[in-house]
Amino acid sequence: MRLSQIVFSQGFGARRACEGLVAGGFVTIDGVVHDDPFEDLAPEGLVLNVEGKDWPYHAKALIALNKPAGYECSKKPKHHPSVYALLPPPLLRRDAQSVGRLDEDTTGLLLFTDDGQLLHRWTSPKHHVPKVYDASCKHPVTADQIARLLAGVVLLDDLEPVRAIAAEPWDGAADGLHGIRLTLAEGKYHQVKRMMAAVGNRVEALHRSRFGKLQLPSDLKPGAWCWLAGPQAIAD
Ligand code: URA
Repeated sequence: MRLSQIVFSQGFGARRACEGLVAGGFVTIDGVVHDDPFEDLAPEGLVLNVEGKDWPYHAKALIALNKPAGYECSKKPKHHPSVYALLPPPLLRRDAQSVGRLDEDTTGLLLFTDDGQLLHRWTSPKHHVPKVYDASCKHPVTADQIARLLAGVVLLDDLEPVRAIAAEPWDGAADGLHGIRLTLAEGKYHQVKRMMAAVGNRVEALHRSRFGKLQLPSDLKPGAWCWLAGPQAIAD
């Protein structure tokens, strides 16, 4: 693939701008300037450095963000900054989209991809990717609440009950709050908060710690993102 085409495919701007980046000597590979836009290179495994920043080539982008509280999962946020403000410009130019949404006050694992098929698969109601949520609740979490969450609760405006795949006490809640770890397969609006309300409790803080097989990397700070190797390690 032509070098300027590789740079273009990664989201560094219009074709002409990418040719300019290469011809202007702003692209290095392994510390060596590559200034021929027509240079033919195999893109897989390439780590470009564009204007001083390393950028590993990915035909499709798949990243994990540790979402902080106070960010909306919308490109046109109403009351808070957008999670998209936390992504680097090349990913925005590639039109990476969040895989589902988290509430403004929910923290934790949020995936983004520019792979339309993957996005469709993982957000489709038919595809049940298990997600793990750690909820800090106002009231003690009782065995009865857990049993009802596992049996299924009917949420307002819904006909079918929704059930947790797993529900267990969680000891990570802040002082004065009561923790529960829920595994859910659907992604309904405010699902955890509504399910906890349906059993008579109230979520005060919510964190997603897992999406499919992927645990939020422990070294990923709130607001930071990282590349993921590929979809196989996350879900089918
Ligand atoms: N359930 C909720 O209530 N909120 C989220 O952000 C995610 C799941």
